[in-house]
Amino acid sequence: MLFRKPAPTSDLDLDHLPRHVAIIMDGNGRWAKRRHVPRGAGHAAGAETLRRIATCARDLGIPYLTLYAFSTENWKRPEEEVAGIMDLLERYLRETLRDMEKNRFHMAFLGDLTPLSPELRALCAQVEETSRVYTSYQMNICFNYGGRDEIVRAARSFAADCLAGKRDPASLTEADFSGYLYTAGIPDPDLIIRPSGEQRLSNFLLWQAAYAEFYTTDIYWPDFKEQDFLDAIRAFQRRSRRFGGT
Ligand code: FPP
Repeated sequence: MLFRKPAPTSDLDLDHLPRHVAIIMDGNGRWAKRRHVPRGAGHAAGAETLRRIATCARDLGIPYLTLYAFSTENWKRPEEEVAGIMDLLERYLRETLRDMEKNRFHMAFLGDLTPLSPELRALCAQVEETSRVYTSYQMNICFNYGGRDEIVRAARSFAADCLAGKRDPASLTEADFSGYLYTAGIPDPDLIIRPSGEQRLSNFLLWQAAYAEFYTTDIYWPDFKEQDFLDAIRAFQRRSRRFGGT
């Protein structure tokens, strides 16, 4: 195809877009199985989808997009599959560095990167630092991320600050605690999308998801298109958010 038809957005209310959309990129394995190709091919196709949806979110004017790329539990997968995802991350980061001026987004990582190779960690830090100048759109990649792990780490840091006399446990507020999470300074997600038909959070943004709208679709992530993303935004705009009120 020589050109891609722009996805129609005329029925979207551009004044009421979610500020933060988070996505559980699920279904790569089943997509690959259905095509009788290795699971790694599913993840590679998933990385392509990630590129397209990130561009779509940026062009719509959504300031924050967060993607669940690798969970604290994903280390249990076969070594070959884990190595393949690490390779994909490396390739993705190199392309991000190359295309940074064209793409103009800040990329940040949420998760504990210490088990990654020193080279990969250095690359993550380089991308994060050099893209910091782009402030209107931020893409967060959750890597070696777990919601419970994040909360436990935050609790540990808070306790350490209390022991150091910098904090008083009795005056801790929800907003203070949010400041100890990986997502400090990032608004909570308004919309969480999970493709591939599963209807669970799988340890994703447990604290931050308190009032997020949840949207699922049966489409596998590698098949998820701009049009599907817009459908999720449309569904979000039809919901009535009461945040516990009436
Ligand atoms: C879940 O699908 C997907 C993952 C665990 C990996 C997600 C990774 C990518 C989309 C590509 C990597 C991109 C970067 C930037 C690192 P699954 O394998 O659990 O699918 P299944 O439930 O159908 O088996």
